[in-house]
Amino acid sequence: MFLSLASHVDASLASVFATLGLPASFARAQPSTRPDFGDFQCNAALALARELGRPPRELAGDIAGLLRQQPIFASVEVAGPGFVNLTLAGAFLATSARAMAAQVNLGIPDTGRGRLVILDFGGPNVAKPLHVGHLRSLVLGESLRRLHAALGWRTLGDAHLGDWGLQMGMLSSAIRHRDPSLVFFQPGAKSGFPANAPVSLDELECLYPEAAAACRSDPARMAEARADTAALQAGDPGLLALWRALRELSLASQVADFRELGVVFDALDGESDVRDAITPLVERLRASGIARESDGALVVDVATPEDAFEVPPLLLAKRDGAALYATTDLATLEARAMHEGLARVVYVVDQRQALHFEQVFRAAAKAGIVPGVELIHAGFGTVNGADGRPFKTRDGGVARLTDLLEDAVAKAAERIEGSGYGAELNDAGRFELARRVGIGAVKFADLSGDRLSGYVFDVERLVAFEGRTGPYLQYACVRLRSLLAKAGGTAAANGLAVANGATAADLAVPAADSERSLVIACLGLGDNVAESARVMQPGVLAEYAFGLAQRFSRFYAECPVLAEADPQVRASRLALCVLTSRVLEKALSLLAIDVPDRM
Ligand code: ARG
Repeated sequence: MFLSLASHVDASLASVFATLGLPASFARAQPSTRPDFGDFQCNAALALARELGRPPRELAGDIAGLLRQQPIFASVEVAGPGFVNLTLAGAFLATSARAMAAQVNLGIPDTGRGRLVILDFGGPNVAKPLHVGHLRSLVLGESLRRLHAALGWRTLGDAHLGDWGLQMGMLSSAIRHRDPSLVFFQPGAKSGFPANAPVSLDELECLYPEAAAACRSDPARMAEARADTAALQAGDPGLLALWRALRELSLASQVADFRELGVVFDALDGESDVRDAITPLVERLRASGIARESDGALVVDVATPEDAFEVPPLLLAKRDGAALYATTDLATLEARAMHEGLARVVYVVDQRQALHFEQVFRAAAKAGIVPGVELIHAGFGTVNGADGRPFKTRDGGVARLTDLLEDAVAKAAERIEGSGYGAELNDAGRFELARRVGIGAVKFADLSGDRLSGYVFDVERLVAFEGRTGPYLQYACVRLRSLLAKAGGTAAANGLAVANGATAADLAVPAADSERSLVIACLGLGDNVAESARVMQPGVLAEYAFGLAQRFSRFYAECPVLAEADPQVRASRLALCVLTSRVLEKALSLLAIDVPDRM
């Protein structure tokens, strides 16, 4: 069993606290904020002193005295008003690194074993091209899916297509206006026939904004769209056939975008998949009194006295009986509850929908849908333009995802051209390099920091080879790969790389400062993966990966590896490079950032 550094430190503290009769809940340490304070620090004495009425430095002295007898520490110092600064022993670091390197999963804990998580992300709407808002959902969602999988969860990624709402009626009525003679609108039309869409993808994508504008300005058009939506939902065969054709057409292009981003869905289900479950659900909630009538509509009260802000009732059915967004989400949850072992559902959706999810989760609890399942809305902020407002194209329209990615890839191609990276590649190779760098840069920017804050989409800055960027991390990976290739590295069948005979067993006590700090960084992988998933923030792992790459750069600048004369030191450093490479590649793969073969 591999235990992370933090768990080892906490275990030592726990035994010391038990000996001293101090409460176990305080036996915690955290990574030091400054290297001269040691590797970890324990601030418990300060809080405990108040509780026990003892001078904090005296208490800290007692804790430190016992901790000094633990072999995992090289030094234990009391500092300031009562901090305990802990420096780990080199031998302990070496043993830990060897144990970690011996594991295929690099010591990532499998805390999710036996549990299923459904990740609801992407959420594209039929007939609308993916836009910049979908970018974040796709990128964050895919990373959260991979993080869960790394922690042993069974994962199910579901795109939850928006394919059953008013936009479908808007589209069919707009198409009827253009050509009422189409077969879909004739009496006797059949829902089953394999119909081709009567519009091309480009036409379809222009049609939706036109149709929406017409409905906004003309109440008669809106009434038609609503009537079509109701007829479709009631099973009109011709409208169903048209609906199916439009859905296929737009899904094909959306799936191509998913692929471009390296996003894989297990299910491309949508709102329409629960259409038959809606009426029974609404009836059940009405009959059980969970839903009540209000102005002819059906609502579920979800406010509680503790609410700091007003939570309005969830609207379950309109006066005309039409189901709403929240109704399909409740019905979808009911369907998801059928999955064996379901423990968690994560919705990766714009933070502006926070109230919607709060209502849905509360109504689900009230109605006993998915009891015991953790429901999480992992919201995110907007992608902004240079003006700090949600990103728009030059003509003020919504920016398409593909345009954004193309911009980034073009910028990457330009930078690659200018820097001489990939000089030995042919055109196709250089394009592939630019693609990976450009898309990797966008993803890294999207994943970094707190997902709840927005960020400015500035290709100049995203696609830089220095600083907190995707390309910087990719470059660190490529450098490591080429170093290991020079050392004659091979990947053994069990996935544990060896380089020129150097194996995990060669990892020795780190001598240089930069070497020591790199070892400690590598050992942090498991904790950072776990923390990232705990707070649903891939940004935690992104920051970790960046710190690791920085420490590797410093190590590589200060410590000779291939040129080292002492064979034992050389083997140990090579083994450390193998470990670093594995850790960095693992971190990038959990962020779904591809690494080019060379740069
Ligand atoms: N289609 C929705 C939209 O574009 C997002 C769907 C999110 N998932 C969900 N289960 N509501 O806003």
